This record gives sequence, C-alpha cells and structure tokens, in this order.
Amino acid sequence: THVVVLMGGQSSERDVSLSTGRGCAHVLRGEGYRVTEVDAGPDLVADLRRFDPDVVFNALHGRWGEDGCVQGLLEWLRIPYTHSGVMASSTAMDKARSKAVFAVAGLPVVASEIVPKDTAMAGHVLPPPYVIKPNNEGSSVGIYIVEAGANRPPQLAETMPDHVMVETYAPGRELTCTVLGDAPLTVTEIVTDGWYDYEAKYAEGGSSHVVPAQIPAPIFAACQAYALRAHHALGCRSISRTDFRWDESRGLDGLILLETNTQPGMTPTSLTPEQAAHAGLTFGQLCAHLVEDASC
Ligand code: DAL
Ligand code: MG
Repeated sequence: THVVVLMGGQSSERDVSLSTGRGCAHVLRGEGYRVTEVDAGPDLVADLRRFDPDVVFNALHGRWGEDGCVQGLLEWLRIPYTHSGVMASSTAMDKARSKAVFAVAGLPVVASEIVPKDTAMAGHVLPPPYVIKPNNEGSSVGIYIVEAGANRPPQLAETMPDHVMVETYAPGRELTCTVLGDAPLTVTEIVTDGWYDYEAKYAEGGSSHVVPAQIPAPIFAACQAYALRAHHALGCRSISRTDFRWDESRGLDGLILLETNTQPGMTPTSLTPEQAAHAGLTFGQLCAHLVEDASC
C-alpha cells in the first residue's frame, strides 16, 4: 500500500502538522507501508496525481486541512483518506457551529457569542472572566483570556479575524479523551504552571500529562461518554479527541466540553499517541489502523 502523508499546509498550525506528519510517516514505514511525504502547497493536485497513492494519510491541522477543504478535494479525486470527512471536519473546526451540535446532543458547553472584532474591543461583551478566540483555529492560536476584574478588553492583533468568539471562561482542570473507532480511550489530565497555551502544548516539558487522569470514577466515565457522544454527533470517522475543563468544586456539573478535534496532534508531546499506548497500541499500530480505516 502506497501512502501519501499530507502535512504542513498553510495554516497557523503548519509547524505542528509537520511534526505530526513526520512522526506518522516514520512509524508507517516501520509498519511496512510505502510512504511519500507531501507538504500540502499550491501544487497539491499535481503532486497527488504524480504520486498516485492508494491512501492519503491526512496529517494536516487547522484551516484548509482540518476544516473539510482538503477532504473535499480528496473526495473529488476519489482518493481514500484518513480521519473525518467533509461535514464532520467543517463542523468541528467551526467552534460556534460545533457548539450548536453539542447543545442539541445534550452535551455541556459554555455560553458564547460571535461578535465583530471592534465590538469585542469596545467593551466587555460578557462579564469577565471570559475568553476571546478565533472561531476556527487550533493549538490555542489567537486566544485572549480576559481576567476577572479587568477594566477593558485587550487590543486584538491585526491577524485576528473580523469576527471573534467571546466565551464565558470555564475554570478548572484540563482533561481530554480520544475516541478511536467506536470506543473512547483513557482520560488524560494535563497539568501546567499556567494556561495550556501553544508553548505549553509543544515545548519539551511545557506540561505534564497524567495518564490515566486521577479523578473520580463518575467524572472519568462522563468524559469518555461525552467524547463518544460528541464524536457521533459530529459524524466523525476513525478518530477524534475531545477536550474538557472540570471545576471540581461543582462535581459533575463542573464538567464542560470545550471542543472536539478531528485531527488530533501526533507530535512527540501530543496526547493521543499516549492514550493509545495506554490501551496497548503502539504509535505505528495507531497510524496503521487509521490507514486501514480510510475511505472516500
Ligand atoms: N490542534 C491540535 C493539533 C490538536 O488538537 O491536537
Ligand atoms: Mg483544537
């Protein structure tokens, strides 16, 4: 089987994707696949025609790679690809729309609004503490936390989109659960000194992971059940990772679903390969499973 691993691309998570893609390509070779690494650029269609793969392993993150665009292209070219299809990808990447799906599925999400950037900078849209974020980015890119007691909202960077999401701050412990196939893996707690931002996510030693999370059994089970329900509600395929905050002072009511990622990171500091390892699956076996599950 000839596998093209698509990586890099044009999003703000390009470097993360290169790390995910190189790692996956390496272990897929170890599993006996013929592997070609492709940096997804403007000549993507020509590259795909030239390499003529049996399967595309989608290792892209962020816009164009995780939001249904490249998935649509692969459908058009009739090339089987890993991870979720067009609809699940585009819905999951859009924070407002995925929240609407989660709410209908009875999953706990916090209140948010999409407002023009100018409105978000003119005054508090929600009572602090709250979060301002792009509607469609990953890896904590472009996130502003407005602390309780803040006098005014922050100046938002030029690179922020015209409209932003303003979301009630969900306090608490950081938890995550990957769904693989039709079953949740274990729950991980992420422990950081401060906020689990880009640096904490990808710098060596930026955070520590407790696998499995040392939390009460009902919370652990709820994370797994919610992750599976979110996966199904969005219509994800093969794999997804759902992130939570848990305010332990409020028991089960304190568990909030933050988002579902359809292209979970597979870098050396990423959560999903660790969760698979806890289930007895090597990184190579995890990637091979995704290849075997590919379709278009
Ligand atoms: N957006 C990053 C890659 C993740 O969810 O793991
Ligand atoms: Mg994300």
